[in-house]
Amino acid sequence: MKRIGVLTSGGDAPGMNACIRAVVRTAIAKGLEVIGIMRGYAGLLRGEFRPMDLRSVSGIMHLGGTILKSSRCPEFLTPEGRAQAAEQVRKAGIEGLIAIGGNGTSTGAHLFWQEQQIPILVCASTIDNDLYGSDFTIGFDTAVTTAVHAIDKIKDTAAAHERIFFVEVMGRHRGFLALYAGLAGGCEEILVPEKPTDIDAICERLMEGRRRGKTSSIVVVAEGDEAGGAFAIAEQVRQRTGLDVRVTVLGHIQRGGTPTPRDRILASRLGNAAVEFLLQGETDKLVGEIKGEIVLTPLEDAINKPKPIDEALYQLAYLLAQ
Ligand code: F6P
Repeated sequence: MKRIGVLTSGGDAPGMNACIRAVVRTAIAKGLEVIGIMRGYAGLLRGEFRPMDLRSVSGIMHLGGTILKSSRCPEFLTPEGRAQAAEQVRKAGIEGLIAIGGNGTSTGAHLFWQEQQIPILVCASTIDNDLYGSDFTIGFDTAVTTAVHAIDKIKDTAAAHERIFFVEVMGRHRGFLALYAGLAGGCEEILVPEKPTDIDAICERLMEGRRRGKTSSIVVVAEGDEAGGAFAIAEQVRQRTGLDVRVTVLGHIQRGGTPTPRDRILASRLGNAAVEFLLQGETDKLVGEIKGEIVLTPLEDAINKPKPIDEALYQLAYLLAQ
């Protein structure tokens, strides 16, 4: 293998730049040429390629977003789109690919390998942390940190006005971000898609908290919760309890910002390992970290196998927020 490509795809995550840097510098140290592919799979299809040298990744470690830019690419979901991308890859003499991204990126990479037999590995990166095959994904720690900083601030005003705040966090269909932010933020309720949401029970616990002397509470709502978004849930609680409620939707603020050292280190390790694995002939796998070790997981498993939320952490959050 002489020339490899690197791309970032799907929702950007803080730490992607640190991963690009690790891929580029490891590959160059191994005597490889590296091509940066712009805008994820969209740039792969259109041949938006730029050579990367050591200096092209200078000064990016601390930056959120991705210098290669990202996109969600519907064309890559079709066999025709993937064939077009393969043509561009072959034309450019790229012999292996490293994609940095989450679930959608892994799905695309798996199909690309199956149909086109171009070696491809994925570095686990999403603020949702919803990939089987990595305890933590690049960007999750930063997103949790951002959400907790916001919750800390909301707590001040909630306490001042003796209100109930509903804080909606991202996570798509999963509750990892809500659980970690909720526990770290000392929140009273954590509503996640993995658990049924019983509005009456929430109201009862909030009122019980009042009886025990609590004057304000924070309810973290995962955006994918079955009971609907934070606005809908807050309105139901207001109607049933008469409590003074307010809603904050954190939104894309959770995707940006300076990556935490933890995310930078994870990104550096995964990017470095991905190059090594590609050179060893590995393909169609997720590069992740389990119990501190770098591990490869078949993309099919990474996409399809369930990654449970930590029940003990969930129970702990409720116990400590009484
Ligand atoms: O997958 C990351 C994520 O931020 C999810 O938490 C969220 O549901 C989604 O992406 C939002 O996607 P977009 O930025 O395309 O609207």
